[in-house]
Amino acid sequence: MNARGTLPGHWIDGAWTGGRADEVSTNPSRPHEEIARFCVGTADEVDAAVAAARRASRPWSAAGGVARGRVLRRAAQVLEGRADELVALFVAEEGKTALEARGEVARAVETLHYNAARALASVGATFDAATDGVVAHVRRVPVGVVAAITPWNFPVAIPVWKLAPALAHGNTVVWKPSELVPATSTLLLQILAEAGLPDGALAMVLGDGTTGGHLIGHEGIDAASFTGSAATGQRILDIAGPRGIRLQLELGGHNPAIVFADADLAAAAEHVVAGAMLSTGQKCTATRRVLVAEKVHDELLDRIVDRAAALRVGDAAAATTDVGPLVSADALTRVRGAVARAEAQGATVCTGDAIPDGPGHLVAPTVLSVPSHDLDVCHEEVFGPVTAVLPVADDDAAFRLANDTTYGLSAAVHTRDPARIRRALDELEVGMLTVNGPTTGAEPHVPFGGVKGSSGPAGREMGEAARDFYTDTRTAYLDHRFGP
Ligand code: UN1
Repeated sequence: MNARGTLPGHWIDGAWTGGRADEVSTNPSRPHEEIARFCVGTADEVDAAVAAARRASRPWSAAGGVARGRVLRRAAQVLEGRADELVALFVAEEGKTALEARGEVARAVETLHYNAARALASVGATFDAATDGVVAHVRRVPVGVVAAITPWNFPVAIPVWKLAPALAHGNTVVWKPSELVPATSTLLLQILAEAGLPDGALAMVLGDGTTGGHLIGHEGIDAASFTGSAATGQRILDIAGPRGIRLQLELGGHNPAIVFADADLAAAAEHVVAGAMLSTGQKCTATRRVLVAEKVHDELLDRIVDRAAALRVGDAAAATTDVGPLVSADALTRVRGAVARAEAQGATVCTGDAIPDGPGHLVAPTVLSVPSHDLDVCHEEVFGPVTAVLPVADDDAAFRLANDTTYGLSAAVHTRDPARIRRALDELEVGMLTVNGPTTGAEPHVPFGGVKGSSGPAGREMGEAARDFYTDTRTAYLDHRFGP
């Protein structure tokens, strides 16, 4: 298979299939460079993928955890072996720097290893039942056919952290990746298929929101896991919610970093800038607001501005680039519009108003000093390298404003004071909290996700949360007394 040019189509029941490749993905660093041509999945193709996944469901579940673990371990090896090829394509199609793309692929390898081991974990527990001679056996069983709909911003890590636990626990999967990264997704699929997944256990249907809608609305799916925008999450809830299927939704964030007066300001500035600007700010966990104690506000702002201004913006493939392009021309228009609106509402652009040289969808890391938390930029998720810095009068104000958002994904606090750390653990309405670190990050063995508008009904993935989401329990009462 060629990972560039015309893609082979959808992977359904262990074979490539598809119509005319009319859609194009391009290089965000060089928008005139075409990466791939691909076709958009139709309702019939989704139907075929779900039907194949249904047929594969029982044999894959019956294969047992040992066999499934072996396949996932092999997938980790194949992925590691083909990392360079995948990274090069990923950088060209998504615009992440090679350093970050490499880190993401390494994270996916670890996620596969973790889930390979999880496939071997105990599948049940045994209890004495009330009746003498009877035991109650509680067994973990797969949910069935899982739909996975994944975003472009982590085109390797997020698919793997959904597919790997789903498959480890005996489910089959129909995966619809973002239409912005079809080539990267196709290569990842090929890597996973090469590891020896049986036909039908994993299908990939390329396409856009319409294709995703066919999948989510399909009666043959038992669960769906989605990462993406709050608006799409709401549409998924509207379609699938009434059917009562299991839904895991990872939506946006508006993640605050609180910097108290006793913090190590150099370290805080480093974490804020990394959290806000890396991956060009295109992370749901990115640091969108910095709430700073008045006493240290000016010094911290200077430090943040200096660090942000020193980042080198450019072609994602260049070794000297720290911050690559935004993913698309639309994204650039949205980010520029949000910064202009913030300025119109009274924000000061401390750094970021220079337009970087180069053909890509480039935007300079932008630090806004905002006079009030009422500005739109303190509430609306701007998916780019933009962060808003705001002084806060006291600790109460810091905690109140941190929680003054419809989202609740992650937060960071910078302090040396145990009482403040304790208060943050108790009061911040988030799924993930970092003390003296960035708001970003995710590890395969612990739960990831948010509260409030950041998550759907099942608000966590990875770690134990993945086992809980991708399995059901079945309680069996076993009477061992045979005969009369
Ligand atoms: C990270 O911060 O490393 O889509 C992961 C996102 C999140 C993943 C963030 N679901 O940006």
